[in-house]
Amino acid sequence: MALSRGKGSLTVAIDGPAAAGKSTVSRAAAERLGLTYVDTGAMYRALTLRGLRTGVDPEDARALADLASTMEIRFEPAARPGGTQRVFLDGEDVTREIRTREVDVAVSPVSRHAEVRERFRDLQRRMALGGGVVMEGRDIGSVVLPDADIKIYLDAEFDCRVCRRYREFSAKGYRPRKEEVRRDMACRDLLDSSRQTAPLTVARGAIRIDTTHMTLEEVVNAVVKVCQERGVRS
Ligand code: DC
Repeated sequence: MALSRGKGSLTVAIDGPAAAGKSTVSRAAAERLGLTYVDTGAMYRALTLRGLRTGVDPEDARALADLASTMEIRFEPAARPGGTQRVFLDGEDVTREIRTREVDVAVSPVSRHAEVRERFRDLQRRMALGGGVVMEGRDIGSVVLPDADIKIYLDAEFDCRVCRRYREFSAKGYRPRKEEVRRDMACRDLLDSSRQTAPLTVARGAIRIDTTHMTLEEVVNAVVKVCQERGVRS
């Protein structure tokens, strides 16, 4: 079914587990479709970094929610097509710091608190108010934007996601053991999908794409095709 609204007001929700390729695919698809890309995982990561730096107990939901309310997070588009979107926390460029293994391990416990999620949910809804966004995360189609025009769930087999995350770390110069990556990933999968508030789930009406045997370009093409079939023009 084609949508009658202009692409400027359309919302695309992309969800899925860690290392399913969501960030890279969402960014590339948004670029091709002329929409704004919003990486909600980066918001939880920035909060986690702030918590680690200030020594906040990851169990202290109230203190973390207060941090979430007072932190200023800003995205800056990549300087060139295919480049990395920069993430600023209180004016500091933390693009690299939020992707370390330390943050990777701590982010799921931090993001499970209902109080934290409420703050970010409201902020994310405000970011999508005017439409024209591809918003990516775990609960976008199910909770944040349940009325999104297009919902996509990107998935991949566990071993494939472990390999992708291992390669990502290696490319950045981190040297984790593969077994550590496997253990961290299993732990995050469990926490993200079993938490009480807004767990990772396939949203009602979402189109599921298994990316295990697909190249990045094939996945981006598939996502763009779904959006175009629903009336988004690139
Ligand atoms: O997509 P990512 O790996 O950068 O996300 C980091 C963590 O943030 C992930 O383990 C769970 C959490 N997250 C979330 O709970 N809800 C979202 N909408 C996005 C991310």
